[in-house]
Amino acid sequence: MNRFKIIAFISYCLTIGSHVIIAQTYARNGMVVSSSKIASEVGIEILKKGGNAIDASVATAFALAVTHPTAGNIGGGGFLVFMDSSGTTTTIDFREKAPMKASSDMFLDKDGNLPKGIDHRGRESTSNHIGLKSVGVPGTVAGLYLAHEKYGHLPWADLVQPAIDLAENGFELPWSLANSAIYFDANTKIQFLKDYFRKDNGKLISFGEVWKQPELANTLSEIRDKGHDGFYKGIVAKEIARYMKENGGIITKKDLRNYSAVERKPIKGTYKDYDIYSMPPPSSGGVALIEMMNLMELADLDSIAFNSTKYVHLLAEVMRRAFADRAEHLGDPDFNLNTPINKLTSKEFAKKRFENINLSKASPSDSTKFGQIYDGNSTTHFSLIDKDGNAVSLTYTLEHGYGSGMGSPELGFIFNNEMGDFNPIPNETTRTGLIGTKPNIIQPEKRMLSSMTPTIVAKDGKPYLVIGSPGGKTIINTVFQTVLNVLEYDMQIDRAIEAVKIHHQWLPDRISYEEHLLSPDTKRNLELMGHMLIPRSNLGALMGIVIDPKNKILIGASDSSRPEGAAIGY
Ligand code: GLY
Repeated sequence: MNRFKIIAFISYCLTIGSHVIIAQTYARNGMVVSSSKIASEVGIEILKKGGNAIDASVATAFALAVTHPTAGNIGGGGFLVFMDSSGTTTTIDFREKAPMKASSDMFLDKDGNLPKGIDHRGRESTSNHIGLKSVGVPGTVAGLYLAHEKYGHLPWADLVQPAIDLAENGFELPWSLANSAIYFDANTKIQFLKDYFRKDNGKLISFGEVWKQPELANTLSEIRDKGHDGFYKGIVAKEIARYMKENGGIITKKDLRNYSAVERKPIKGTYKDYDIYSMPPPSSGGVALIEMMNLMELADLDSIAFNSTKYVHLLAEVMRRAFADRAEHLGDPDFNLNTPINKLTSKEFAKKRFENINLSKASPSDSTKFGQIYDGNSTTHFSLIDKDGNAVSLTYTLEHGYGSGMGSPELGFIFNNEMGDFNPIPNETTRTGLIGTKPNIIQPEKRMLSSMTPTIVAKDGKPYLVIGSPGGKTIINTVFQTVLNVLEYDMQIDRAIEAVKIHHQWLPDRISYEEHLLSPDTKRNLELMGHMLIPRSNLGALMGIVIDPKNKILIGASDSSRPEGAAIGY
């Protein structure tokens, strides 16, 4: 460790003082790290039965749909990055799609404005996040089925069954869900959500009581027996279409029948001796992550102490540039055939972008006029490794917590409100964060741009770090900082996850930071450099595994911001 790295380490130890230090889990044969201990255990059981990383991921994802309905889902979508033990990497895109009846101005009023209303949480939100029109055609079942068809090993039914058992027999309601039950009872106007946490006798379920979901168990049984078609055809699809039609939604049986998940080539970049693989568009995560890692590689980090004013400023400037490029260029690759991905992720481009970073002064973000800010943040991530060293990094989402809050009582699952991830007003980009650029304008059957960043880093051609997070646009930045903490600062995975994080997304032009974790001096100095600072209680909920190549052990940690999460190994 050189002098500056020692300073960095000491300053890191000081700053981390106010964050919970979590324990790491060590194992030899396999590991699952998710935001639900029960779901992690389901994944581990599949690994112990001889399932591979894909099998265990399918089982964990279905289990999360039961135990973590805030974001775990069959009514949403997401991305899976798979690296086998030899380093061969692929991705599965199961992002939701706009229904065929969707249009670029579907959320605007007659004056072309984006009206506001009250969402399922009883909070003010913009129209693109409210009600059944905000629902994208779900992709989760198709994605898990495709991953299993191509790379799974155990029978499909065996992987869905644990989730059915959990829904049928129930599990003790954890504190976070008990809180949701109380919150929705008081605040939501949506009947489905009011009834969601209610027992047969009409009483609200409370902390520690067994919560059963018989309707969800029936839906999952259809999926167990009929696979992909169990969701996209037959009685489940018929009921989705009926519910949509009778309640003002626009998803039809044809939308469901036409949906398919896609296998895509990962985005690849390098940082020093490491190879980084992440999700390509329709996620912006991989491209932005590689661009930012390339920019950091150009900085003289030995002369900048970790978490110093200069360091936070540098991170913010790097983020500002990557998010500006994200807004200009990225969208569904099936609709944007000439996206300059190779350019954005190249070392040459990073050199140009780095040239105008002033290490003493904030550079202004381009802007037009004031508008709205919107940002979904209810997503969930898990990282997983099997005994042969195959790794999966999977992030999936409903967009907001409990998505749109709507669902058919007969099916027992919640629909996403992912249409809110499209740019809602064509050509209108505002200083406070509304983006109106063309690549992500709503079109029928288009996938909305995502920030999810499931990532696997390889060392000497083999999986080394498996990482990802929820958090809307903050995902890209929290994954970026955690990867940097491990690769550049040699932090243990728990410390890398817990270390102070910041977020800048170009527009609005401000640094969000984890409250209490920047010193008053640093904040004052950043303000003097021209930054606006906004505290947040927390950024990210990272779930990570490092494979120690020397000792051949797996080291996992789940973010303390998800106390019901767990890294479980065997
Ligand atoms: N809904 C969050 C994301 O896709 O980035």
